[in-house]
Amino acid sequence: MSVGRTVSIVGTGSYVPERVVTNDDLAALVDTSDEWIYSRTGMKERRICAEDQATSDLGAAAARAALANAGVAAAEIDLLIVATLSPDMFFPSTACFVQDQIGAVNAFCYDLGAACSGFLYAIENARAQIACGAVETALVVGAEKMSAFLDWDDRSTCILFGDGAGAAVMRASDSGRGVMPAVMGSDGSLADLLWTPGGGSRNPISHEMVDRKEHFIRMQGRDVFKHAVTRMGDAVMAALEQNDVAVDEVSCFIPHQANIRIIDAIAKRLGVEDRMFSNVEKYANTSSAALAIALDEAAREGVLKAGDLAVLTVFGSGFTWGANVLEWGG
Ligand code: ACO
Repeated sequence: MSVGRTVSIVGTGSYVPERVVTNDDLAALVDTSDEWIYSRTGMKERRICAEDQATSDLGAAAARAALANAGVAAAEIDLLIVATLSPDMFFPSTACFVQDQIGAVNAFCYDLGAACSGFLYAIENARAQIACGAVETALVVGAEKMSAFLDWDDRSTCILFGDGAGAAVMRASDSGRGVMPAVMGSDGSLADLLWTPGGGSRNPISHEMVDRKEHFIRMQGRDVFKHAVTRMGDAVMAALEQNDVAVDEVSCFIPHQANIRIIDAIAKRLGVEDRMFSNVEKYANTSSAALAIALDEAAREGVLKAGDLAVLTVFGSGFTWGANVLEWGG
């Protein structure tokens, strides 16, 4: 499958807040333990924002790193997309705040809402616009201050998430296969398995809503787990088939970093245990930032080398999911 110009990721960057919160730190807040958290999730620690840091601050730091890595000036960006479920505010978009902080004065900017799947959706969105010639240079960012939306009294959710951001610069390329068209899907009938039910137009902010804690993330963990394994595995197979790439040709699989047991189950199903990238131990689940940070780390650590084929896959609230294949550096 080939549509329009070849599009490549020409630089990546990431940023995580300084403050490290370990499993033992959480055990001082709620009834849990390092053993419980690590054995069920693979998480050891996560980064949590300072109170005065907002999602756009994390996104801007990651964006600056990606632009420096790409050797691209902020003024060269035509399109700036921020994937997030924890925006600075309802409006304007967090992308506009990032634009202002980095000086991307020539970009048009918007947020993309696909929860934990957001960064891959944003990559596909930018790829399509560059491929058809609508824009030349895009900056895609996944940024989350998850800590602002967690009930720190609920041990079933507060242990799972962290804050952070990652970014990628994308441009048309005249070599290699670049970022290939993604396979994506959604199922809105399962929205209530993972959501924040209060604070929007369905259930506006009120004292009663806040007393019921409906402005915090709620999740049916076991159901989410099963759907995540099935959907990401299926999406990877479909993306490989669509782009005529065999599993054995892929050097690195980079999945959404939600839980090491989800990642291990997908790896086992695909038979790629030796090529699965994970950093969930260090950052926990940073939602739309997770894939972005993982991609940047895989590139910086030399796991991804020029000419390698990599597969990215995501799953998140909605439900939403997707996968793509890319040739790194080409
Ligand atoms: N510490 C100690 N005990 C806990 C904790 C905790 N932090 N949280 C829950 N428990 C208890 C429960 O109360 C329950 O106790 P009970 O048996 O006395 O009722 C017991 O542990 C088992 O609870 P389960 O929820 O059934 O535990 P499970 O083995 O399913 O693990 C987990 C929970 C880790 C959330 C798992 O379901 C999971 O990883 N699901 C995937 C969800 C996910 O990753 N979501 C992220 C967002 S979606 C995304 O990013 C893809």
